[in-house]
Amino acid sequence: MVSRVIPVEPFDLIIFGGTGDLARRKILPGLFQRFRAGQIPAGSRIIGVARNDMTAAQYRKFVNTALDEFAGNVPAGKEVRAGFKQCLEFVTLDVADAKAWRKLTTLLNKNANAIRAYYLSVKPDLFAPIAQQLAAAKVVQPTCRIVIEKPLGRDLASAQALNSALATVFDETQIYRIDHYLGKETVQNLMVLRFANALLEPVWNARHIDHVQITVAETVGIGDRGGYYDRSGALRDMVQNHLMQLLCLTAMEPPVRLEADFIRDEKLKVIRALDPVALNETVRGQYRADSVEGSYHDHAGDAASNTESFIALKAHISNWRWSGVPFYLRTGKRLRARLSEIAVTFKDPPHSIFPKTVSYGANSLIIRLQPDEGITQHMIIKEPGLGGLRLVDVPLDMSFATSLNGVEIAEAYERLIMDVIRGDQTLFMRGDEVEAAWDWTDRIRAQWREAGGKSQLYDPGTSGPDDALALMHRDGRSWRPLESQP
Ligand code: NDP
Ligand code: BG6
Repeated sequence: MVSRVIPVEPFDLIIFGGTGDLARRKILPGLFQRFRAGQIPAGSRIIGVARNDMTAAQYRKFVNTALDEFAGNVPAGKEVRAGFKQCLEFVTLDVADAKAWRKLTTLLNKNANAIRAYYLSVKPDLFAPIAQQLAAAKVVQPTCRIVIEKPLGRDLASAQALNSALATVFDETQIYRIDHYLGKETVQNLMVLRFANALLEPVWNARHIDHVQITVAETVGIGDRGGYYDRSGALRDMVQNHLMQLLCLTAMEPPVRLEADFIRDEKLKVIRALDPVALNETVRGQYRADSVEGSYHDHAGDAASNTESFIALKAHISNWRWSGVPFYLRTGKRLRARLSEIAVTFKDPPHSIFPKTVSYGANSLIIRLQPDEGITQHMIIKEPGLGGLRLVDVPLDMSFATSLNGVEIAEAYERLIMDVIRGDQTLFMRGDEVEAAWDWTDRIRAQWREAGGKSQLYDPGTSGPDDALALMHRDGRSWRPLESQP
């Protein structure tokens, strides 16, 4: 089994912020992978833009170092590196300086008919000014695309302002809002799993499903991102986007066709059907220090901060399919394991024919995003052997890498960037989706503000604060253990 390479037309990709952290760690290594796979055709240009005074030759060296650091494990000959470097150009430009744009526009106009994507890998305050400068420089044609990435606003009002500013220059079909979770292999598989298997869809509803747990747990802390993170917190940083997208793909109705707007329409309906979350159905936490690292407060540089590095909540979707089925979401930093999964627990059979002394758990389906992407179906079977009837829970495990002959799982950015070039918006968020998600999360924050409670402290290496365990226990349920195993 091998990945296929779908050819694209030659393109110009302009990376505003081409020397930044995101460009070095994700965008440029992702592009290099695609080049190595033969997907980037001759004549394509990758143009880095930043204020730093650099020549194209210096930028090529800079990118080479970034690839050593972040794509060092990719087997590629010297000539592949050399070929990739030939695609690279650099323009020194302070985007805020209207007079300085000439050099970039001259370079772009040399290739006026190419597909052109502007990737705004800069701080969000620059999104609207860059869009306006592009319009003023007359380098926005209908075939141009603009790519932006979270944070897409801090709340509903700022998200609306951003969408309106972009809409003055770009049509919605030209705007690619990245949520890198949508580029993960298993997230796409979720749609295939649900809609290509006749087995699942008939039981994918409140009649058969008891509850759903969505977990994105990380072992890392906020590190040196305290400045950004402390103004954000887990609700804005993770729930409004990544967990929300997972919730939508798990809960949405089948789209009419596998086309961007049909899928986004269905996701939007899910977000709009979400009930406001009750205050006592949210839990906020902050990690303490341990012998290895400082506490959240140390990392945030603010001993009084109440920003959450952990959140657990119980969501309800008020629609025909999901009425009465709780969706428990949790995400946090410095937890016991790095684990992202969706766990769907089915209801018990309507009537048990087994003696009361024989205990057995419910069926569950685990969709693992990372690590070890795959799917596990837990089945109840008879434990083999004599000595009475005993039932056991057996995982039927399908790890994508091993089941499919060790196929290489691509990084989310590789797929997403090439989708931008292809003009496929399926894995990108539409403006109204982003706004609806902010509307829902804003209400949670408003309740926290009004109630004035505190984030509960938790020890690193655990599953988070005790109140998060209680959130499930009081419903007679429990979280799946934070271990990367079936
Ligand atoms: P960095 O601060 O590391 O990089 C910012 C880049 O923008 C640099 O190349 C900088 O170069 C350039 N820049 C800054 N001001 C200007 C200007 N006025 N004109 C032209 N270029 C400018 O940020 P990140 O790479 O970490 O993040 C970029 C964006 O991506 C942010 O919106 C961030 O929230 C988002 N993001 C980042 C992630 C990550 O993992 N890093 C993950 C998800 C989202 P110079 O100073 O030389 O101008
Ligand atoms: C980012 C968040 O969007 O996603 C980070 O800003 C988080 O705080 C990261 O660590 C998690 O992504 P992944 O792909 O490592 O699960």
